[in-house]
Amino acid sequence: MLYHIVQASNDLDFGLKAKAAFYAAICPIKDLPRVILPTGNTPAPFYAALRNDPTNKPFHYLQLDEYHGLSADDPILFSNWLARDVLDPLNITNRMIFNSADDPASEIPRIHQWYRENSRVDLAVISIGENGHVGFNEPWTRFDSLAHMEEMTDQTWDTNCKYTGREVPRKVITLGMAELKLADQTILLVRGEKKAKILADALTGEITPKVPASYLQLQRNVIVIADAAALSRMPS
Ligand code: PGA
Repeated sequence: MLYHIVQASNDLDFGLKAKAAFYAAICPIKDLPRVILPTGNTPAPFYAALRNDPTNKPFHYLQLDEYHGLSADDPILFSNWLARDVLDPLNITNRMIFNSADDPASEIPRIHQWYRENSRVDLAVISIGENGHVGFNEPWTRFDSLAHMEEMTDQTWDTNCKYTGREVPRKVITLGMAELKLADQTILLVRGEKKAKILADALTGEITPKVPASYLQLQRNVIVIADAAALSRMPS
């Protein structure tokens, strides 16, 4: 595996280091870079750093995951959250987003079709769940899975309810492991002691769908941006 760990000393430093890795990855790309971005608590300092930087290189945003069954204007939709936090402030207008309210019987094939026609992904920025999920690919999702509907585990659902401050749908739409694997480069963002064990498992343990993030060991060009607490269980 070709991975490189960058340790951040605090949240501000984390954001700046993630931003530097982000622009280093996309600036050399001649076409409009295609970039998968995550939501959640982890990337918050990164997005703050992006908002505060006038560099503002355009890119094509590719949605990673979304709650299913909410109306398009619901503020907790990840697409709306990311629009408020990053895409609108940066003036990113090219967006491949999921339609939460649409019938999955047509929405999932639409996503597959998009990736069949646009198979290049330049960068995937992801975070990791405490059980090793990436996007909403929960443990035991096959590494060759395409975008699909998933039912959150109780733990993931609980975290999401706390995060949004209300009861969220159990069903979600997520890019599959296969679309994540298309990425030429991957930036994994990890903060906090709660993620230390799973980070060590993912990067140094068995490569197995039981720990979806262990797919990173099969990827080329992986940069891990992490704080000291998240790195505390990595073998020395
Ligand atoms: P978090 O979520 O960044 O809010 O910890 C990550 C995840 O569960 O995928």
